[in-house]
Amino acid sequence: MKWNHLATTLLLMGACLALVRADDFADRRAALKKGTYVLLGTPEQDGETRDGFFQEPNFYYLTGLRDPGGAVMITDGVATIYLDKRNAKREVWTGRKLAFEDQPALGATLKPMDTLAGDLAAVKGKVFTLPELRPRLQKLASGLEFEDASPSLQRLRMRKSAGELAIMQKAIDASIAAHKASWKVVRPGLYEYELANAMSSVYFSRGCERHAYAPIVGSGPNGTVLHYFRNSRRMDAGELVLMDVGAECSGYAGDITRTVPVNGKFTPRQREIYEAVLKAEKAVIAAAKPGATIKQLKQVAIDTLNKHRQPLGDFMIHGVSHHIGLDVHDFADNDVPLAAGAVITVEPGVYLPKESLGIRIEDMILITEQGSVVLTADLPKEAAEIEKIMAQEGAARGH
Ligand code: GLY
Ligand code: MN
Ligand code: MN
Repeated sequence: MKWNHLATTLLLMGACLALVRADDFADRRAALKKGTYVLLGTPEQDGETRDGFFQEPNFYYLTGLRDPGGAVMITDGVATIYLDKRNAKREVWTGRKLAFEDQPALGATLKPMDTLAGDLAAVKGKVFTLPELRPRLQKLASGLEFEDASPSLQRLRMRKSAGELAIMQKAIDASIAAHKASWKVVRPGLYEYELANAMSSVYFSRGCERHAYAPIVGSGPNGTVLHYFRNSRRMDAGELVLMDVGAECSGYAGDITRTVPVNGKFTPRQREIYEAVLKAEKAVIAAAKPGATIKQLKQVAIDTLNKHRQPLGDFMIHGVSHHIGLDVHDFADNDVPLAAGAVITVEPGVYLPKESLGIRIEDMILITEQGSVVLTADLPKEAAEIEKIMAQEGAARGH
């Protein structure tokens, strides 16, 4: 593989330089089934001032390109990548982009974007693409016959490569550090947004570029709101705070939840429910292995929660697992049995709004031939251990 310096720098972000090689993207393209696949990069639009530009993950997955625009056509594993030419007007606003003129070494034939329409019109047989891209492709060439590329892409993305796993561990380690930092500062009187800030600043300071999702820091009654995002409440002694916070590092997501007592000590009732959720979490992890389905894992969680003296299964009002990778809820077919190389979350929860009590414990696991390994194992989850750490390292909590 010949390396072009500019492409290398743009492709492989900062700290993860050694983890994903240009060859990996070519290998993914070659692993697609026979046929012609066409994906388009997300075009740059005016006014992306809130979140900035975000490349469509499937296009990134197959090309390594994070800059706007572009296209890829893959026929029986052989790829042509189409790049836009430089656009001086846009560059004034959003800077220099990788362009056709740069002639980056992408392990594929390189062509200017304006040749795509002609190449599309010449395709014999069906064009595999994502359903949302059909209108744009139809505009480029009429009369195309489409087939859904989703199953093939899901099949590939559900199995993480060694390079992907290494990057994911960075996102996980940064997210773990964020959670550990929260246990040091949480105390009655602190606002949820202050805690969210203490956590996010840890992963941003490690070079992670985004939140994997809006941080959820829900204290007391807010812990029962599944995707609570206001983070505006002042926490009180005697309450729990649920922190579902994860970093996105080099494009890959971390997704971790811990629920801890604001003043460092669980009440007996909180501890009782916490232990029940933890038991369910461990049962799901024990059941997670090749051949198991995500549906079966949910049933394991419900069955375990129902064994509690107060059956709790009905209070777990969400799924227990999802694939995770470039997207926090990764592009995957949840009905396909798990296979080695899959990374999923395990996140049982119990929500009792009448008691202002919401508890979720969320880890990330890698499915292996033998079963699974917990990728987030460095973050404690035993109630006694959390209390001990908070007592040793915590802020003055007034007890
Ligand atoms: N943080 C979103 C989720 O757990 O699915
Ligand atoms: Mn999750
Ligand atoms: Mn989560």
